[in-house]
Amino acid sequence: MTDLTGFKADFNRYLSREISLKEPQNLYAPITYILGLGGKQLRPILTLLGCDLFGEDHKKALDAAVAIEVFHNFSLVHDDIMDNAPLRRGHETVHEKWNLNTGILSGDAMLILAYQFFENYDAHTFQQLAKLFGKTALEVCEGQQYDVDFETKTDVTIAQYLKMIEYKTAVLIAAALQMGAIVANASMTEQEAIYQFGKNLGLAFQLQDDYLDVFGDPKNFGKQVGGDIIENKKTFLYLIAIENSNPEDKALLRTLFANSPENSNEKIEVVKTIFERSGAAQAIKSEIASYTEKANTILEKLNLPQEKKALLKTISLELMGRVV
Ligand code: IPE
Ligand code: IPE
Ligand code: MG
Ligand code: MG
Ligand code: MG
Repeated sequence: MTDLTGFKADFNRYLSREISLKEPQNLYAPITYILGLGGKQLRPILTLLGCDLFGEDHKKALDAAVAIEVFHNFSLVHDDIMDNAPLRRGHETVHEKWNLNTGILSGDAMLILAYQFFENYDAHTFQQLAKLFGKTALEVCEGQQYDVDFETKTDVTIAQYLKMIEYKTAVLIAAALQMGAIVANASMTEQEAIYQFGKNLGLAFQLQDDYLDVFGDPKNFGKQVGGDIIENKKTFLYLIAIENSNPEDKALLRTLFANSPENSNEKIEVVKTIFERSGAAQAIKSEIASYTEKANTILEKLNLPQEKKALLKTISLELMGRVV
């Protein structure tokens, strides 16, 4: 793995200093719990890198990095409620460990906390960060709504799916990088380029998430494998499988994704086999590679130190092969 230990250590030191258990504990304990489970911390690292990339001390981006990660964790707590998910980062989800109301309110508090971290910047920087944050956070909600709507929609197109993942996932990864660039006072052109790099990286990232949801190893994945199949998510795998399958498999898939069968393990196994024999599993892998390549072409055009671009490129390539 690429060595990001320094950035990670700085981030975690700052995070644990800034987020602590307070009264009422039933509001704050779920917050320290979910943040304490860690995860990959990809987005805050990208914020620090985005700042470093444009020649500023990465420590100046720590508040933005914490804001992004707290927002991301808020979105996960609410996402797990919406997706009926039992597991997150190898542990019980917040609404399972506590209850639904706790998940809702602790999530809300995290959204507000995230916003407060931008207040630590000067007025001009604050204004730019808050503006990008507001736009991005609303897009994430729009993406999440499409994702839920598609569970019961039977004619989702690839284009609609791509828009949905762009909003629910890619824009936050893009904004994480742009926020680093904002803190570093990068030009508008540079900010836009790094945003576009992040967006394509984010599309590849969500496609890989969809792949792992089906083909991940329960030993290290940390989430319930097959969760998207149980919830009838119309992912890229499903859409390609529908497009490429023979009439029998197509009909079977449609029936399976219109219901919630008693035996979900059986459903997962059948769907997995169809995803493989239809070529969907292969197709998603090449789609991931193609968005990663697109991201790196954008990065290449930026006039920045070669070694810093190389680091981002390495990260993008490592994400393609991630198993968590
Ligand atoms: C999960 O994000 C939600 C998606 C947008 C796919 P991550 O895969 O970054 O989750 P953690 O933070 O590492 O646990
Ligand atoms: C989550 O997408 C996107 C957001 C949390 C905004 P998923 O529902 O695919 O994420 P996981 O797989 O539960 O992490
Ligand atoms: Mg989910
Ligand atoms: Mg979801
Ligand atoms: Mg997922």
